[in-house]
Amino acid sequence: MQPRKIVIAIDGYASCGKSTMAKELARKIGYIYIDSGAMYRAVTLYCLRNDFFDGDTLRTDDLLQHLDEIEVSFVLNSETGRPETLLNGKNVEQEIRTLAVSEKVSIVAAVGFVRRKLVALQQALGKNKGIVMDGRDIGTVVFPDAELKIFLTAAPEVRARRRLAEMQAKGQTASYEEILRNVKERDRIDETREVDPLRRADDALLLDNSNLTLAQQDEWLMTQYRRAAGIE
Ligand code: DC
Repeated sequence: MQPRKIVIAIDGYASCGKSTMAKELARKIGYIYIDSGAMYRAVTLYCLRNDFFDGDTLRTDDLLQHLDEIEVSFVLNSETGRPETLLNGKNVEQEIRTLAVSEKVSIVAAVGFVRRKLVALQQALGKNKGIVMDGRDIGTVVFPDAELKIFLTAAPEVRARRRLAEMQAKGQTASYEEILRNVKERDRIDETREVDPLRRADDALLLDNSNLTLAQQDEWLMTQYRRAAGIE
């Protein structure tokens, strides 16, 4: 018997390894993986490229005027087997991960009309199930009926060290203090914004991975997946 296809929602704080976890799970079980944060990052990149920021203030009128011109989609990289983000048809996977985008993305993600557009897109991507999506509001807003919801967390210092290592591996430079500040600031904005703030859904399973190896985390996750998909 084929296991039943489900929706898996993974939410949690910035840089706690949600995408690593979600990508690996999707690969193992043959599901589509969608990084919803990448969508907010792509819109942020559009805003930066079009000069919609005055310092930390986003000119939302300008953004609203151009909203229909912003198309975010994904393409599978055949070498890595992982989806990469396209902004109006151009691959922006590298550019959306820079500190310049990270520093502004929470501002863009707090805008109601941006969220409505991206949530609708996310829901359309999940309508046939068989999807793992990570983000901040996947279990609460995007897929409130998801069969498996996970809320991931880790200490800010652990997250900053991981993000620094990730950036160094890509040859990008940033200081630990700068990243830690960015991680904490994003937590604050994500949790306190008015529209769809980051919060754990009542039925989400909580996992603090500060002291877990990837292997331990994967094992825990597969157990939860099998249970939720009705596989013995
Ligand atoms: O997961 P990430 O760091 O790539 O997310 C980038 C930003 O987008 C982060 O500030 C939170 C926001 N975000 C959101 O508000 N809702 C989502 N579903 C995903 C990300």
